[in-house]
Amino acid sequence: APVGDAARYYPPFRPIPATTADTITLPQGYRYQILAPWGEKFSDDLEFGFNHDYVGFFPMDMLEGGRSSDDALLTINHEYVNPLFVGGNTKEKTPEQVQAEMKSVGVSVVRIKRDRTGQWSVVMNDPHNRRIDGFTEIELTGPARGSAAVGGATRVRGTVGNCSGGQTPWGTLLTCEENVDGYAKEWGSAGYNAMHQGWITEIDPFDPKSTPKKRTGMGRFRHENAAVTVAKDGRVVVYMGDDMRDACVYKFISRGKYVPGNRQANMDLLADGDLYVADFGNGKWLLLDYDRNPKLKDAKKADGTPMFRDQGDVLADARASALFLKATPVDRPEDIEIHPKTGDIYIALTNNSNHGNFFGHIVKLTEKDSDWTADSFRWDVFATGGPKTGFSSPDNLVFDPYGNLWMVTDSGTGENSIYDFLGNNSMFFFPTEGPDAGKAYRFAVGPVEAEMTGPVFSPDGKTLFVAIQHPGEDSESLDKLTSNFAAKEGTNIPRPTLVAISGFPGWRA
Ligand code: FEO
Ligand code: CA
Ligand code: CA
Ligand code: CA
Repeated sequence: APVGDAARYYPPFRPIPATTADTITLPQGYRYQILAPWGEKFSDDLEFGFNHDYVGFFPMDMLEGGRSSDDALLTINHEYVNPLFVGGNTKEKTPEQVQAEMKSVGVSVVRIKRDRTGQWSVVMNDPHNRRIDGFTEIELTGPARGSAAVGGATRVRGTVGNCSGGQTPWGTLLTCEENVDGYAKEWGSAGYNAMHQGWITEIDPFDPKSTPKKRTGMGRFRHENAAVTVAKDGRVVVYMGDDMRDACVYKFISRGKYVPGNRQANMDLLADGDLYVADFGNGKWLLLDYDRNPKLKDAKKADGTPMFRDQGDVLADARASALFLKATPVDRPEDIEIHPKTGDIYIALTNNSNHGNFFGHIVKLTEKDSDWTADSFRWDVFATGGPKTGFSSPDNLVFDPYGNLWMVTDSGTGENSIYDFLGNNSMFFFPTEGPDAGKAYRFAVGPVEAEMTGPVFSPDGKTLFVAIQHPGEDSESLDKLTSNFAAKEGTNIPRPTLVAISGFPGWRA
């Protein structure tokens, strides 16, 4: 095996083959622990929600500049419910079913600790433990607050469709509202308004009494993710994908500057800034601003009426604004991450059945002069899915500090036999430099019909947290279950859960 500096180009494990086993399959020397399954209590009056997605790891001492890997607040997105398991599978939802669903989505904030043997446990009743769900009051901030597009609202109810997300350097969570279209119809009885969802919500996990904030300046679309960084001049830049076929890639640049060590000064940085969308044809970022981009002001519908009345309209339908400006529609942008050494932006384009991109690819974007606030960029394809490379449908990404990319897949379960070579959804490792740059090594395979989501390493690199989303998703009924993964003792109902994977050597100093 290679040693020394070259070792970073190679996986720290012996790659495993594809499988359809109903478990988590890992390389020799690695093991997993189930943590935070759906329905389990973590305070007397709080339970983990359903379909875990993005996971944020906030070291308990991070506000004092620490990087503890043994004591942390974990945030877990709960993207959506499967009514077969939550509330009941009927056509017309009763108020009780709506209530059960509203309680099972959103975000869990939970304190966890690791003991000397490497085992993790949940801290029951820790004062930071919190559930943000379909009922939580959330404040709108930014240009669309109080605008006609949101019906004049300044506070709204709930966060839903919480897919991936991001963490800010000042210790807050950005949770991304992705597939929000059905809620106004299904939960209309609870006062749901479609324009109140589909934003990015910022949550302070360190203050359980804080009011979460929807950041309307970052636009409203199918928000997949939020990749946050601080530019040389101190402004905060966030890269975001709109996960829909033929939709776009965006970046937000804050107006204010990040002040290291002054948390209070940073807490509302994301309320005010500029939203741009990518034109891959010309390698340009296009500004989505009603007052400064005359094209948007002059835009007319077919009947001659204005397409947008104000910036609230531009932001609330950012996709229409972007496509009107001829931004480039791409193949379903899922996660985006920033390379820790080169600063390049890696974008998972998962697939696009509209034009035969069955297996997806990963694109690398390089900003002009390596400046994240630049108005132009170049790009290239980093890796392409398919039978030859062994992966398909890239979704969440995470970098290790050496710049290796870890990626999880989301090939629809049982939707098309062209995916049969893949086995269950898996996690892969890719070197980004060296002789094998772009080569996929399989690290883990998930249970039947599950997606492995939200991967995050502890700061010491010894634990990898992965969410196991929707095991047994295609089960026809509770009598015909396709998976029993993480079932409670004495039952066979599969449960979405978080797992902590250990066995990693950890990062070298
Ligand atoms: Fe919820 Fe686009 O994944
Ligand atoms: Ca995703
Ligand atoms: Ca990620
Ligand atoms: Ca996906």
